Amino acid sequence: MPGNQVKELIKQGRMTLQFTDFGIDEPSDQQLKLPQPPLVKEKMTFQQIDLPYNFGDLKMETDILKIINNRVSHRVYTEEDMSLLELSYLLWSTQGIKSIRGKNYATLRTVPSGGARHEFETYFIVKKVAQLREGTYHYLPLTHQIEFLREISDLDEKIGRALSGQRWAEAANVIFFWSVVPYRSEWRYSCFAHRIILVDIGHVCQNMYIACEAIGLGTCAIGAFDRHTCDSLFTLDGEDEFTILAAPVGTISAQDKDKEQEFYAFLKTEE
Ligand SMILES: Cc1cc2nc3c(=O)[nH]c(=O)nc-3n(C[C@H](O)[C@H](O)[C@H](O)COP(=O)(O)O)c2cc1C
Repeated sequence: MPGNQVKELIKQGRMTLQFTDFGIDEPSDQQLKLPQPPLVKEKMTFQQIDLPYNFGDLKMETDILKIINNRVSHRVYTEEDMSLLELSYLLWSTQGIKSIRGKNYATLRTVPSGGARHEFETYFIVKKVAQLREGTYHYLPLTHQIEFLREISDLDEKIGRALSGQRWAEAANVIFFWSVVPYRSEWRYSCFAHRIILVDIGHVCQNMYIACEAIGLGTCAIGAFDRHTCDSLFTLDGEDEFTILAAPVGTISAQDKDKEQEFYAFLKTEE
């Protein structure tokens, strides 16, 4: 792409971040009384798996000061399994629905969201989770269930490609991928939706970090992913729904601290 086009894209990106007032004359689809888009995506298959809710059974750090203080990105994972209850807890902590506002007007979840639009869907690849087979899955937050989508051949190679060659992520137990359905927010906020979406996904991922830290798992946000590969893994159309962020999660060991530091070895030559 030529340099002048890149500069134009940077300008447009800044405009997206700058939108703060609502002084645009064009009414939003909500103001035009167009129907609201569905709060969540429909089931994608015919078979769902119920998730456990007994989060009180998890061994959990509850001191929020410690949790916030200790949170770091983890990129080295052990060989241990993750339990279904742990996976359930992570899904609940990041996108779980606590109640419905009005007559199906909005979902209220474990994370905040501008106008409670909650524009995201959660997909994940299971590698090592007790009771689950390897493959791709979709979370159904209204019923706190998951659905198995499909097996993937050459899974590690596909994970590497999806995450732009960050092959360390192959050792994770689960790799989460959040997609965005922009119209859920555009319906209400029109061209101001996109800044809000970016803020909202940060909340989701931060809850993932916090929830992992609380139960002794490790995660790392991944912004450097190959969107087309990720979209095709979960059959997303890439227009009305597409991948916005990823996060591998794995079991961790304090003994791997040095290995974690190797990811920052480049700093030695930078100084
Ligand atoms: C939006 C976002 C995208 C990120 N993308 C990547 C990534 O693609 N690969 C990676 O190794 N780390 C990624 N990180 C992790 C950051 O490198 C990490 O948060 C930062 O170095 C600070 O370290 P800490 O999280 O341990 O405090 C990302 C973090 C965020 C919030």
